[in-house]
Amino acid sequence: ILLIAVLAIAAYLIGSICSAVWIGKAYYGVDVRQHGSGNSGATNTFRVLGKKPGAVVMLLDIFKGWTATSLAGFLVIFNAIEAEQLIIFQLIFGAFGVLGHIFPVYERFKGGKGVATLLGMMLAIEPLVALLCIAIFVVVLFTSKYVSLGSIIAALAFPLLLLLPRFHPENPILIIFGFLLFAVVVLTHRKNINRLLTGEESKANITLGRKR
Ligand code: G3P
Repeated sequence: ILLIAVLAIAAYLIGSICSAVWIGKAYYGVDVRQHGSGNSGATNTFRVLGKKPGAVVMLLDIFKGWTATSLAGFLVIFNAIEAEQLIIFQLIFGAFGVLGHIFPVYERFKGGKGVATLLGMMLAIEPLVALLCIAIFVVVLFTSKYVSLGSIIAALAFPLLLLLPRFHPENPILIIFGFLLFAVVVLTHRKNINRLLTGEESKANITLGRKR
């Protein structure tokens, strides 16, 4: 129990690392929360600071989700759980990482929207499904030019793809968690959804060769 609690807190603290805010302030003297959409995430870093810092923040945020989720492996190494229980703790620690990103302890609980961190979690748990979600994200982004729409649809695609016989339809916990995390993404994108409905959402200025 103690090990589980320590790892859950570690997952939350890893998720809390505010890459967008810290990199923006340290290297550009800019707080990305004061510009663009005001979000402390990879998309807004691309928007405000450009490709290089945007890509760095995106990779760091994905890595945070992957690392938080992978902490569950320590429970198996230390024989604290059975191998079959691994998935449950991957989901719990991954969710702690995503919540850390959205409510970071270091920045008065005002963080990002959780998409890149959730992607890292998906990559750690179901890499093939996660890659399909990235492909769906890219298609929606290039056809609509809306990053937020791509994020929301890709987050929904994860549990839906898991329902396919080829993946893990027999694992209800994974699918239920997938839908719960999709609900979290919808909540963090409430303002984006309003703007999409009123046609005020900002479009990404993308050319071929750039992903986000
Ligand atoms: O990953 C966040 C993205 O879906 C929306 O970001 O800055 O356009 O609100 P933003």
